[in-house]
Order: sequence, then C-alpha cells, then structure tokens
Amino acid sequence: MIRSIVRGVGTALPRRIMKNAEFETLVDTTDEWIVQRTGIRQRHVAAEDETTASLGEAAARAALANAGLTPADIDMIVLATSTPNNTFPATAVEIQERLGMRHGFAFDMQAVCSGFVYAVTAADSHIRSGLARRVLVIGAETFSRILDWSDRTTCVLFGDGAGAMILEGVESPGLLTDRGILAASLRSDGSHRDKLYVDGGPSTTQTVGHLRMEGREVFKHAVGMITDVVEDALARGGITAQDLDWFVPHQANKRIIDASARKLGIPEEKVVVTVHLHGNTSAASVPLALGAAVADGRIRQGDLVLLEAMGGGFTWGAVLLRW
Ligand code: ACO
Repeated sequence: MIRSIVRGVGTALPRRIMKNAEFETLVDTTDEWIVQRTGIRQRHVAAEDETTASLGEAAARAALANAGLTPADIDMIVLATSTPNNTFPATAVEIQERLGMRHGFAFDMQAVCSGFVYAVTAADSHIRSGLARRVLVIGAETFSRILDWSDRTTCVLFGDGAGAMILEGVESPGLLTDRGILAASLRSDGSHRDKLYVDGGPSTTQTVGHLRMEGREVFKHAVGMITDVVEDALARGGITAQDLDWFVPHQANKRIIDASARKLGIPEEKVVVTVHLHGNTSAASVPLALGAAVADGRIRQGDLVLLEAMGGGFTWGAVLLRW
C-alpha cells in the first residue's frame, strides 16, 4: 500500500516578540494572570510586511531545505489558515507563485485551529488516491490582524507564525512498523459555532471582523473532545497511548494540554509544549511545535507521534504517524 511519509518540516516566525508585560499597558491584565491561566509568556506579532503568505512561504522553504527538495519536486500545496491574505484567491496559490511553481495545484483549508490536522489528512488522501505524490502542507496565520486589541479575554491568547511539512507517497508493506501516516480521526459540530467565531465576513458584514470567544465554554468542551478523537485515532491505528513516543497537541492553553495528557495517561516528558513561546497560533501551532521538537532532536525517525487539535466550529481531529 501507499503510505504518506514525512520528508521534512520547517517553521517561520515574525521578527517581533511581544511579552505578556506589554499587554499591561493595553488592557486590564497582568503577566501573572496570563501565565497562570494559559502558560503563555510571549507570542510573535507580524509587522506590516509580514503576512500569512510570506510566513507560509518562509516555512515552506525551510521544510524544502530540511527535506533536501526543491519546489519542482512538489505537486500539491494545501495551506491551513483562517487568516488568508485575501478572501480569494486562495493564499496557497500565492505561496505557489512565490515558490516559482507553475505546475501542480494549491488550495486553502479552513478548519481554524484544527486546520493543520485536517490538511495533513487531506494531503494523505490525495497521496493515497494517486492525485499527488509530494505534498507541501502548511499552517500559517496572522491572528493579530483579527484580534480586538481592547478585549483582554482574547487579545492575550493568540500569536502569528507558520509551520510546514512535506509528505511523500512511498510503497509500504501496510504494517504498524511502517513509516508515515498510520491513522486519523476528524470531527466537527457546527452547533458550537457561536462559542468561537469571527464577527464579520464577505457574505454577511462585508468586513473582516474580529475574533470572539466564550473561553470558559471552549475550555469546558476541549479536554473531552480532544481525548475522544485521540483515542479513536489510536484505536484505528491498533495501539494505545502508552505506545506513543511523542504527543504534539494544539497549543492553545497549557492547562488544556496538561489535562488532556493526564486523561490519556501520557507522561509529561512525552508532551511537546511551545505555547509559552508562541501563544495560540491556530493552524500554525501543531507544525510549529513539531518543528521545535524535530530541530532539537527529540523526534527521530521511527518514533510514534500523535498530532491533535481542536478549535472554532467546533472542529477537532488527531493524526497518528510514525516519523
Ligand atoms: N486578564 C485578567 N483577567 C482576565 C483576562 C485577562 N487577560 N481575561 C479574562 N479575565 C477575567 C474574566 O473577566 C473573569 O473575571 P470575572 O470572574 O470577574 O468575570 C476571570 O478572569 C475568569 O475568566 P474565565 O474566562 O473564567 O477564565 P478561565 O480560567 O476560563 O481562562 C481562558 C480563560 C484562558 C480563555 C480559558 O478559558 C481558555 O483557554 N479557553 C479555551 C481557549 C481555547 O482552547 N481555544 C481553542 C482553540 S482557539 C481557535 O480555534 C481559534
């Protein structure tokens, strides 16, 4: 059978780092509150010349370098984002153009914070169906552009950034010992759409709008949804949480990450955490965390890795893969 194996990963972050203390001059908050409730200590914020397309391009180039490939080797790009450069065309085609690609195809995927996990499964499906052989999967966001900077309940939580992964189809025996994507599970439930949304859009207000969130409500559902979908992906893969080498969760809140890992029985030392450095970067959060753990040598070839995310919609999902 064909498996989608990881050939490389790369990340990109805006130049400017914004520490929690800076928010004390903007809204009624403290560094202590932010750290205690979320684990976030800083985030990167894009300058005017840094966009979802430019950050996505930089992450893509880093992943290509990591894989020892060039844009000519790629035949599909899928970009997970909720903050595209324009309503259309897809920001993925802008990245395609920036990479000098005139071949293949590119499209955006919108599943908010679950976007990267959704995009990885879409890439895997395209590879296994034969529509693509090497896919550039990117998660890139500039949430700073849709934040209400006067709302302390949301503006302290998010950051900007991008991460990319290159998947390649290879013939495999179809065993649990194969490298590549072994199982996945995706969910959504639109009845929760008003708990985390943007209050604008082309077909309603004709404005971009701002992010709105009932944080407590999201928190209440997060751990149960995350652990359900992770357990489903593990069952589909025929393994248990104890078999995992690395758990790479969506980086929204350290308390949600800790509670999910505890419920799944995954020890702290196997959990990759970057939320203190990046805040919640939505679709970029999982590939940014992956990139960090690969760069520092924690994740190595042969390791069993579980990716997980949950976000607006609600959407949620998990991917099990062997590095
Ligand atoms: N500084 C100081 N006080 C604050 C701040 C702040 N920045 N923000 C809120 N507060 C206050 C509230 O007003 C409230 O005050 P009150 O008790 O007087 O009403 C108090 O702090 C407690 O507020 P809660 O919302 O109950 O705080 P909680 O412990 O739930 O933490 C948080 C809030 C961090 C938002 C948490 O609920 C959370 O992480 N939620 C989930 C976010 C998430 O995972 N999102 C999913 C993905 S995002 C995506 O898809 C785009």
